[in-house]
Amino acid sequence: MSPKKNNVLIIDDDIGLMQAMEIVLDSYGIGLSKFTEPIAAIQELKVNKHDVLVVNYLMSMIRGDEIVKLVREFDKEIYIILMSAHKDLAPSIDIMRSLDIQAFFEKGARFDDLILLIESGYKYVEQMNEIKQMSMTISNFGVEIATVLKNAVDAKDNYTKEHSDRVAIYADKFAEYLNLNDEDRKILSLAANFHDIGKIGIADAVLLKKGKLTDEEYETIKLHPVIGETILASSETFKDALPLVRHHHERIDGKGYPDKLKGDEIPYLVKVISICDTFDALTSRRVYRDGYTLEDALAEIKRSAGTQLDENLSNKFIEFANRENEFILKTIPREK
Ligand SMILES: [Fe+2]
Ligand SMILES: [Fe+2]
Repeated sequence: MSPKKNNVLIIDDDIGLMQAMEIVLDSYGIGLSKFTEPIAAIQELKVNKHDVLVVNYLMSMIRGDEIVKLVREFDKEIYIILMSAHKDLAPSIDIMRSLDIQAFFEKGARFDDLILLIESGYKYVEQMNEIKQMSMTISNFGVEIATVLKNAVDAKDNYTKEHSDRVAIYADKFAEYLNLNDEDRKILSLAANFHDIGKIGIADAVLLKKGKLTDEEYETIKLHPVIGETILASSETFKDALPLVRHHHERIDGKGYPDKLKGDEIPYLVKVISICDTFDALTSRRVYRDGYTLEDALAEIKRSAGTQLDENLSNKFIEFANRENEFILKTIPREK
């Protein structure tokens, strides 16, 4: 017999029935946590992960479906078996579906049937875990491939080398300063790391040209956000980061590219990444000029506020850079 599984939790106000059930389940190697108090049971479910919940439908204090509603608020994965003495009194199929109740057990039926349902529950949870694991692997794979491409761009273009890493460092820290939520920080970090990946599609003769670019060459460079978006769109991992990659060269005055978005047509996170990108471009050494000092770069950010960059966010970035002065000085390339 496989080792005892102790993660079935049952809620019923009939202690006698639960004890009888415990004996039967025990003979199948399944341990049972028994609760007559729904609130205590919910507390336990919040603290300790369980695979299967068996809950009685009609109880004196609260109905089983109301308990399920509370449980589903914090646990979408637990396999739920609703139990009732009378099939006719059970909630409708629609309610069961909406609460994601996977199975129904009629109390009069043989306990063997309940064992089968519990075992299906284990299998269901196991499969869900496998799917989760697989999708995590696939999503890591997407990031790995994108990293290979990013390294390929870095290898051919000295300027881009480390640029994206620094934009990501500024974006992470600035996001913290702006108090952005975890989801937005994740999107911003992914986008910052890969925003210039489209440069892989730009001919070396243009990307690496030392002199002034012709209008035609500049038009070619301007394709990199869309090329980047196309590359990353093949991986689900980057779905939410795509607008940031596509639009990181838009300007508040509508003179940016590729879509000439204006003002609030530009999503908030795009405005954040644009400032970090611009700041790193200013503080980096270019073929035709040295990198700006921190002071000069912030003055330039101030000048660009309301035309190239979002005014409010530019002010916030300046505040942030002054407050995090030491960190910024350590990060900008010339100060290393
Ligand atoms: Fe770019
Ligand atoms: Fe960039």
